[in-house]
Amino acid sequence: MSVVNIRSVPHFRSGIHIRTAEPRLAAGCRSMPSAHGKEFDPFWLDTVNQCLWRRCRGGDDERILLKPKAFDMLRCLVEHAGRLVTQEQLLEAVWPDTHVQPEVLKRHMFDIRNVLGDDPKCPAYIETLPRRGYQFIAPVRSCGSAQAAFADFPAPTGLVGRDRALADLRAYLGRTFEGSRQIVFVTGEAGIGKTALLDEFQRQAAAGTPVRIARGQCVEGYGGKEPYYAVLEAVSGLCNGPEGESVVRILAAQAPTWLVQFPSLVTREQREMLQREIQGTTRQRMLREIVEALETIASEIPLLLVLEDLHWVDPSTVDFISALARSRSDAKLMVIGTYRPADFALSGHPLRSVEPDLLVHRLCHELVLEGLKEADIGAYLAAESVDGTVPEGLAALLHEHSDGNPLFMEAALEHLTGRGLVSLEGGRWQLQAPVEEIDLEVPERLRRMIELQIDRLSGAEQRALEAACITGNSFTASVTASAADTKLEDFVGLCEGLEHRNYIVLSADAQEFPDGSASRRYRFVHALYSEVLYRRQWPGRRAKLHLQIGERLEALCAARPGEAAAELAHHFEEGGDAERAAKYRQLAGRRVEVRPLVEIPDRSRRESLPPTFTLTLAGAGF
Ligand SMILES: Nc1ncnc2c1ncn2[C@@H]1O[C@H](COP(=O)(O)OP(=O)(O)OP(=O)(O)O)[C@@H](O)[C@H]1O
Ligand SMILES: [Mg+2]
Repeated sequence: MSVVNIRSVPHFRSGIHIRTAEPRLAAGCRSMPSAHGKEFDPFWLDTVNQCLWRRCRGGDDERILLKPKAFDMLRCLVEHAGRLVTQEQLLEAVWPDTHVQPEVLKRHMFDIRNVLGDDPKCPAYIETLPRRGYQFIAPVRSCGSAQAAFADFPAPTGLVGRDRALADLRAYLGRTFEGSRQIVFVTGEAGIGKTALLDEFQRQAAAGTPVRIARGQCVEGYGGKEPYYAVLEAVSGLCNGPEGESVVRILAAQAPTWLVQFPSLVTREQREMLQREIQGTTRQRMLREIVEALETIASEIPLLLVLEDLHWVDPSTVDFISALARSRSDAKLMVIGTYRPADFALSGHPLRSVEPDLLVHRLCHELVLEGLKEADIGAYLAAESVDGTVPEGLAALLHEHSDGNPLFMEAALEHLTGRGLVSLEGGRWQLQAPVEEIDLEVPERLRRMIELQIDRLSGAEQRALEAACITGNSFTASVTASAADTKLEDFVGLCEGLEHRNYIVLSADAQEFPDGSASRRYRFVHALYSEVLYRRQWPGRRAKLHLQIGERLEALCAARPGEAAAELAHHFEEGGDAERAAKYRQLAGRRVEVRPLVEIPDRSRRESLPPTFTLTLAGAGF
C-alpha cells in the first residue's frame, strides 16, 4: 500500500506542503485515453496530466509537448468547443492575475496550430474570428464516454441471475459520465448477493471504464456508531490508492478536518498545524468539507463510492449520503449503498426517514435483489461442471430448500456434498441417490447450516476459527494463533488449508505492527461465519479469548500502544480486565485532538481495522 508522504514543497491554504510526483510519460509510450480527457480525432487531451496525445496505430500514442500556457489555451478552447472564445476570455482564463500583451496569445496560438498541423486559412480545429477571438470547430467528445466505456465490460464470472441488476448499475454509472450524480441503494436479505453483485460490478467498472473506486463498510456494534466509519475507510482507500496524491492534495485544500484523520499521510508538524486550523470544528463543517472534496475528486475522473451494510450505518454517514444526494452541482459521482431491509426497518434507524424522502424526490434509485430462480441455480451448477450438465431435479431441490437465497443455496449444496449425496466426480455432478429420495434435512435457519459446516472441521480448525472470530470479520495470524493454542506456522497452515478448499476463510492484506513485524491476515468469506462462531461459544470462553488476544496485541504494539488503544480497550473490557481496559480507554481518549462529534458509545464487538484506520479512529477520539 503506497502512502503519500507530505513532507516538502509549498502551498495550500491549510499550510500543508505536499510532495508531488510529476507524471513522467515518455514520447511514444503506451497510454490510455481516460475519462479525464477530451478527444478530437486523432488527438486527445489528457487534462489531468496536462498533455496532448496523438493516436497512433497499435496503441502507442505519441505524446506532444506543449508549453503550459499553450496547453491551457488549447484546453480552454476545447472545453468551449463550438463557441466563440474572445481574446479577453482567453486572457482571463489563462493569465488570470497577469497583464499579457495579445502578441503572447498569438505566439502560443501559432504553437498550438503547429502541433495540430492546422492551417489558419482553412482550419480543421481552430478558427480565427477576426477582432473577436477563436472557436474550436472540430467535434469533441469526452474520453471514456459512457458508450465507449460499456463496450468493454467483461462478462460476469461466477455470478448468476443478476444480468438485469448489472445492466441497471451500468446504466447509472453511464449517467455519471455525463456529470449526473447517482445514488443507488442495493437492498435484500442477508446472503441474497448484494456484496457479490457489487464485487462483480466493481470488477466490470474497473476493467471497462476509467473510474476511481472507493469502498467502505459499516460494521455492527461499536463501529456502526462511529461517525463516518465507512466513509473514513473509503477515503483512506482513495488516499492510498492509485492517484492517491491528488486526493490528498484535494483534502489538504478543501477538507483539512478529514486529512487530519489520517496521521500517516502528514508529518507531526503538519498535523499540529492542521489541528490548530480546525480547532472547534463542527459536525457541519466536516460534512461540508467532505462533500465538496469528493465533488472535486469526482469532477474529472468518475468516482464510484460503495458503502456496504448501511443497516449498521451511523447517523453522520446518513447525513453525508443525504447531502451528496441533494447537492446540485455536477459531479461524476456514483454512490452505492447496500442494506438489509429487515434490519433497516427497526425503528430509530437513521436511514429510515432519509431514503424514502430521497426516493420520493427522485434523488436515488433502489435495486431490490430477489432470490435466484431455479434456472439461475441450474446455471450456477452447470458452470461448475466440465460439460455443463446438471442432474435432473438437483437445481429444483436446491431452489426449494434455499428459496433462491444464494448463501442458503451454497450452504445446502455444501450440506449435500458433505453428506456424500452429491459429488463432483471428474468435473461432473453425480447424484448418489434419486432426488426424490434425498431427504435434505435443511436446517431451518442459515445459522444451523453454518454450524454444520463448522462441525465438519477438524478440532484444530474449529479452535483456530473460534479464536479468529474474536476480532470480527478479519483476523491476523500472529495475534490469533496463541489464543487458538496453536503455533503460528500451524495456524497459518490451517488457514491456508481452509482457503485452499475454498472453505470459510480467505486471505487478506498482510498487517504490520509497531514492533516492525508483519503478519498474514485472513477474513471470513461471510460475516455470518464469524457471528455464528462467536455466538456459539460460552461467554466465559469468549472472555478468555478476548483477554489472550488483548495481551498478544499489547505485546505487538508495545512500541506505540496508542495506535491500537481503542482495540486493546475493547478486548480487555470484554476479557474482564477492567484496569487495563480503563488504561487503554484513557490512552485512546488522550489522543483526542478533535472534539468527538458524538458520545463514545459502548463498545461491543468491532472489526479489527487496518493500521492506518485504527490510528485514525484513535487519533480522532471517535
Ligand atoms: N448471483 C449469484 N450467483 C452466484 N453466487 C452468488 C450470487 N449472489 C451471491 N452469491 C454467493 O452467495 C454468498 C452470499 O452472497 P453475499 O455475501 O453477496 O450476500 P449479501 O447480500 O451481501 O449478504 P449480507 O447482507 O449478509 O452482507 C456468497 O458466497 C456469494 O458468492
Ligand atoms: Mg454483504
